[in-house]
Order: sequence, then C-alpha cells, then structure tokens
Amino acid sequence: MQAMRFDIFTLFPDVFEPYFQTSILQRASERNLVAFHLHNIRDWATDRHHITDDVPYGGGGGMIMKPEPIFAAVESVLGSPPSCPVILLTPQGRLFTQTVARELAAPALGPQSGETPQQALERMGRRPRLALLCGRYEGIDERVREHLVSDEISIGDYVLTGGELAALVVIDAVTRLIPGALGDPSGPWEDSHASGLLEYPHYTRPPEFRGWKVPPVLLSGDHARIARWRREQALLRTLQRRPDLLKTAKLSQKDREYLNQIEKDEAL
Ligand code: 6GU
Repeated sequence: MQAMRFDIFTLFPDVFEPYFQTSILQRASERNLVAFHLHNIRDWATDRHHITDDVPYGGGGGMIMKPEPIFAAVESVLGSPPSCPVILLTPQGRLFTQTVARELAAPALGPQSGETPQQALERMGRRPRLALLCGRYEGIDERVREHLVSDEISIGDYVLTGGELAALVVIDAVTRLIPGALGDPSGPWEDSHASGLLEYPHYTRPPEFRGWKVPPVLLSGDHARIARWRREQALLRTLQRRPDLLKTAKLSQKDREYLNQIEKDEAL
C-alpha cells in the first residue's frame, strides 16, 4: 500500500529535516509507511525578491502572509481544488487531541465501528494524505482560510512564532499511529491515552537503585495481578492529576468501584 503522505507548506522547510531523519519518523519513512514532502512557499513568489508578506490593510503592526504564493504553492502540488484536506496550523484552530490524531491517521475508521485501524485502511485501499500549511508572521490573509484551507488546528492555548512546531507535533502524533510505525503493532491504539487515562508508572532494571525499590508486584510474575495493579495506578494517576479525563474515559464497572473506593478512603 502507498505511504501516508504529508505535504508541508512552510517558509522554513529546514527545521523539519532533522526531526524527519531521527528515530521513529525516520524508520517509518524508510519502511515506506509515510512520506514527507516539504514545499517552500517562497519558491512560488514571483517578484524579484520573492516576497511572501506585506503590511496589513487598515494599518497596525506586524506583517501578513500574502495569498498569491500560498495559493500557487498548494494548487501546483495538490491541484485546484486541492485533492486532500489542507490543514492550517494556527492558534485559532480546533484543539489538537489524541482523538484528532486518530481521525487524521485513519479517516475511514468510524468512532464505534469495531474495526482495527489496519482493517479500516485496507477497506479504504490507501493510506491518507494530508497537507499542512504553516502560518508565520502575525497572520495570514483571510482569503487563504476562506477559500483554500479545509481545517484549522491549534496545539494548545499559547502562541508560537509560527506553525512549524505545531505541524511537527501533528505529524509525530499521527505517524506513530500508522500500523507498523512503532515496534509493537497494537501499541498506540491501545495505550493509555487511547483508553482516555494517563499511563501507569514504568520501571526497568535494576530492581533496587539508591535504596528505591521497584514495586514487588512487577517482579511477581503474576500477570493478572500486574495487569490489575497497572490499571489501578492509571486510574489513580488520572484521578490525582487529570480528573477531567475521567468524564470521557472508557471505564469498566470494576474501574468505577476502584475509584469509588479511593474517594471513600479519602473521606475518612
Ligand atoms: Cl498551530 N500556531 C501558532 N503560531 N501558535 C500556536 C499553535 C499554532 N498552536 C498553539 N500555539
């Protein structure tokens, strides 16, 4: 099957290369699970100085990205209208979460279809394709949002100098969900954020370090007990650090009983 393809439109393509050439993303592209195509918007500016920004109409500070080079870049790569979703990275976009990452990695996967991501991909017959448009300067001409972009994403409530880091965040979170991108095939769709909980604590050797011991249950070899301990730790952590997540987490009857028990113990 063809690789999932990302087309990235940016004024700073160089910042992406080292990350794409490292670790999981490098391995995923070497295995042809994913392909990264960088496009410098400046290459589509037609004036002598390849200018991509201009002063805002109506005055005020800051520079605005001009529409012509952006439309030319996106339409020359993706056609007109664009043949795939065009996502603008902007603090005004919808908030990027693990649910959004899953949607982008497997658009054919319904929320409750019972399908695996692998099955959804096979039914689609191809991996998805996404275009990411990185805003810079103080903003981008509104006609780009209105007539070129199909979705707007923000990675959180803070302001970055440009969309490049946000695009890398999206690409990283989506790539690790592509079946085969991580060593463990079932991993990312079933890990703690998939269940809506925080991760349980992890330990490796040695069993004792500076007098600090690994919880004995993890050395017991009793897999049922270990699984229960991990689940309870995930529930406890989520209750302590991110109780808001418990409202949407997938919880069993046993999970609820455990949480109720903790709340009773705390009341004492
Ligand atoms: Cl997508 N872009 C910028 N410039 N700042 C952000 C952001 C995006 N998400 C959070 N802050």
